[in-house]
Amino acid sequence: MKKTLSVLVGVILLSTNIANAKEIEIKFAHVTGGTTHPKVVASEMFAKRVNEELKGKVKVSLFPGSQLGSESQILEGIILGDIQMGAPSLSKLEQYTLKFRIFDLPFLFKDINAVDRFQSSPAGKKLLSALDASGLKGLTYWHNGMKQFSANKPLIKPSDADGLKFRIQSSDVLKAQIEAIGGIPQKMAFKEVFGALQTGIVDGQENTWSNIYTKKFFEVQDGVTETNHGVLDYLVITSQDFWNGLPADIRSDLDRILKETTQEANARVNGINQSFRQKIKDSKNNSTIVELTSQQRQEWVNAMKPVWNKFSDDIGQDILDAAINN
Ligand code: LMR
Repeated sequence: MKKTLSVLVGVILLSTNIANAKEIEIKFAHVTGGTTHPKVVASEMFAKRVNEELKGKVKVSLFPGSQLGSESQILEGIILGDIQMGAPSLSKLEQYTLKFRIFDLPFLFKDINAVDRFQSSPAGKKLLSALDASGLKGLTYWHNGMKQFSANKPLIKPSDADGLKFRIQSSDVLKAQIEAIGGIPQKMAFKEVFGALQTGIVDGQENTWSNIYTKKFFEVQDGVTETNHGVLDYLVITSQDFWNGLPADIRSDLDRILKETTQEANARVNGINQSFRQKIKDSKNNSTIVELTSQQRQEWVNAMKPVWNKFSDDIGQDILDAAINN
């Protein structure tokens, strides 16, 4: 009788636990759109796997295309706990740490493979914890790609940018970079860029092939100059409170799925950006692609690279050396 009673109590407790085990909701917000954009591909891959493998335990809902606001509003939402995950560009994090300024230095990384090598190095991995004191937590890096300049007139020499207004992300390194070529930098949220280019509030901008194509910037610009002068990459983030409050097994499952999807998605970005470059080339719009000779490109390097000196103290010489040696 005693045994039957304890079995019964056990069954009741178990079913109560199951009923109480609430599904954890992860609202994942970002600002880009399109179906094959690098961030869309990576976030959809992550959400699909979590929703299949952790069914009933965790549900990831995606909010792309600035649906939950600009990247700075999303970051605030993550700190407040209204949003659980995001993947802002590394250039938008200087309000929280100056360490990621390394990624905005012009002509530091030759290509996305060099960025990948640095991010996978001990110095790059250590940087993931740069946000810890702010309440945010960096989980992994997602690639977008290398940036190109576009403007309402052809840009061949750096002096062609003289006096032009350029939209930039919220980064003082990018501000200094535009000033170095005689341009006037204007920080602006991503969702406002197309309208600002179209109405002439700004004359140009810098971005990756995937952003220039999916946001149709090329349709309202005279040309895109293939400078590959900098990188636009993302940090997948959450808050310390949310991440540390997860049950240990769920946290480790999410971590594993994130690592696996990161590898797969990052391996695809070169192909994705090249296909967007081709689409711009094939389009019937005015926008042409300006390919620079190595001598012409060197002029851009000479004009913009001195910017490094201003920011090396914020970044730290050790981190800078690790990035240079990739
Ligand atoms: C931008 O603001 O240009 C980019 O950070 C947008 C993005 O998320 O790729």
